[in-house]
Amino acid sequence: MRNFESDNTSGASPEILDAVARVNAGSAASYGADEVTAGLAARFADVFEHDVTVFPVATGTAANALSLASLCPPYGVIYCHREAHVSVHECGAPEFYTGGAKLGLLDGAAGKITPEALAEALAAVWRGSEHMTQPAALSLTQASEFGAVYTVDELAALCDFAHAQGLRVHMDGARFANALAHLGCAPADITWRAGIDVLSFGATKNGAMAAEAVVFFDPELADGFLYRRKRGGHLISKMRFLSVQLEAYLEDGLWLRNAARANALAARLAAGLAALPGVTLDAPVEANMIFAWLPAALVEALVADGFRFHVMGADGARQRVRLVVSFNTEEAAVDAFLAALGRHAGGAQAAG
Ligand SMILES: Cc1ncc(COP(=O)(O)O)c(C=O)c1O
Repeated sequence: MRNFESDNTSGASPEILDAVARVNAGSAASYGADEVTAGLAARFADVFEHDVTVFPVATGTAANALSLASLCPPYGVIYCHREAHVSVHECGAPEFYTGGAKLGLLDGAAGKITPEALAEALAAVWRGSEHMTQPAALSLTQASEFGAVYTVDELAALCDFAHAQGLRVHMDGARFANALAHLGCAPADITWRAGIDVLSFGATKNGAMAAEAVVFFDPELADGFLYRRKRGGHLISKMRFLSVQLEAYLEDGLWLRNAARANALAARLAAGLAALPGVTLDAPVEANMIFAWLPAALVEALVADGFRFHVMGADGARQRVRLVVSFNTEEAAVDAFLAALGRHAGGAQAAG
């Protein structure tokens, strides 16, 4: 398998498939009234060292859009990075689920927002004027869309500033485990302790079949979520199949093992690439994604070798590529990619 296209091209962890098969036996209460779903709040509370309200949903887009709808009125603004998934790749779901809220797009290196960028955007708002949408929320992606990770201090500074400005803070954690594995801190450190109000907790990319969780650290913010979820078509009738994926994902540290493995393989790939003349990494490789500029001839040779990855753009004779490593990417695929780099670039060091 020479596929580095996406962490969605990989399968699911055997432990998660086993867990799904386990709850297939017999019958169970529907629409989330089952025992596995009931147990999720305690499991997540354990992981996050905080009381939480947890809602399983089937997609990351639903997790984000429903979370944001809980934080932002129809006349509000949600600030996010210009390249954020919520802005670019959710087909307007946040705007739709909020009933028309506006996204305020911010720039920042490697897909990360800074308090300065947020401050600049807020300075342009007429607070309290009916002529302008009103600041309501900030959405941060951890790890970012470019594979960079916010540090604990960066998150705390952003949340402090946002809260002082009256905003609530959402985290798109589609790759939360990869960020956590990189930082090596407690889940609490990059969520509620830093000031995150609601988290879209991703599991699908890192080992589940289809399961994400919306995690509220302030139960009051979850008011009405049940209705929003049902209205949005995400109240799954056989909820136990979703919930058990989340349960198995958190069991015995599976989620962190999977993420650490993907990150380590991504770091090997990145080191091999960075050692090549004519190659530039486009963002720090801190999670399981690599963005890099490569000579077009090298891209062509790698594709001819059967490697699959996304080409995101071109600039003269160079192409910008995205490589994603999954929790179950084979070591041999990474070895083969590094060996191919060495061959094509004629540099033995690239395979090291
Ligand atoms: C940063 C980010 N957020 C959320 C998602 C979730 O998307 P989906 O609705 O495809 O599960 C993705 C998936 O690509 C993502 O990369």
